[in-house]
Amino acid sequence: MEITERNGQAIGATVAGFDHAAASQQDVDAVKAAVYTKKIVVLKDQDLTPRQFLELGKRFGRPETYYEPMYKHPEVEEIFVSSNVPEDGKQIGVPKTGKFWHADYQFMPDPFGLTFIYPQVIPEKNRGTYFIDMGKAYEALPEDLKKELAGTFAEHSVRKYFKIRPTDVYRPLSEIIEEVDTKTPPAVKPTTFTHPMTGETVLYISEGFTLGLQDEHGKPLETDLLHRLFEATGQLDDTFAHPNIHLQTFEKGDLLVWDNRSLIHRARHTTTPEPTVSFRVTVHDERKLYDGAA
Ligand SMILES: [Fe+2]
Repeated sequence: MEITERNGQAIGATVAGFDHAAASQQDVDAVKAAVYTKKIVVLKDQDLTPRQFLELGKRFGRPETYYEPMYKHPEVEEIFVSSNVPEDGKQIGVPKTGKFWHADYQFMPDPFGLTFIYPQVIPEKNRGTYFIDMGKAYEALPEDLKKELAGTFAEHSVRKYFKIRPTDVYRPLSEIIEEVDTKTPPAVKPTTFTHPMTGETVLYISEGFTLGLQDEHGKPLETDLLHRLFEATGQLDDTFAHPNIHLQTFEKGDLLVWDNRSLIHRARHTTTPEPTVSFRVTVHDERKLYDGAA
């Protein structure tokens, strides 16, 4: 196994010769360390069945199965499927997922530390996923913004991007909204926390899932601070030219592992969709989102 890290502050490392079944604990720990410091690691030349993909994930932590069943892989329920390619005329998983800035499971009480994406069908023109490192983005904020957000809390919810399920047809919208709010009530977390693996300060907000900021007593802030933070971190730049935005591309056989505490990401879809399928496994590592999290 060989890990090659990009120079300096740049995001990314590649790993050649990683075999999840044969890897020693030391190998797994080395890959994990690279994920925390370089944020995205690409495991090259992986050729795995869905079951083996899950086994690979399990080497890194405890898998989390997505709470909405329509995303599940038909044979391996821990795998979340994003697909616009029907199999035998049947929709598998969900098409057009994640086309908005978010961290995975940010709206849940206990988000996991690591996301694994294993692209299966790779689009020709629009391959890749956009990322922002919210540790670096925090560091780059003007001091007055840092001061303004200190001690505040952020409210996260899936409400804006909850996808209507086939079983929701003919249901009143109000009933669906009520179900979403009951099943996944807004999760409140500190606007910044210390990354338990690296010690960095992470600004934990996203345009897709963060609905508002509040003070320590739960009172909504009456300023447009959240909007200014989205702006400053590059999340409102629809040209994706903001210096914080990193486009991660991949090719067949690549398996991406990323730090789901630090990074927010956004799928790249266009108005002329190409066939695209990817499998996702998500795992909890040894620590909570941040030390002291419930
Ligand atoms: Fe995602």
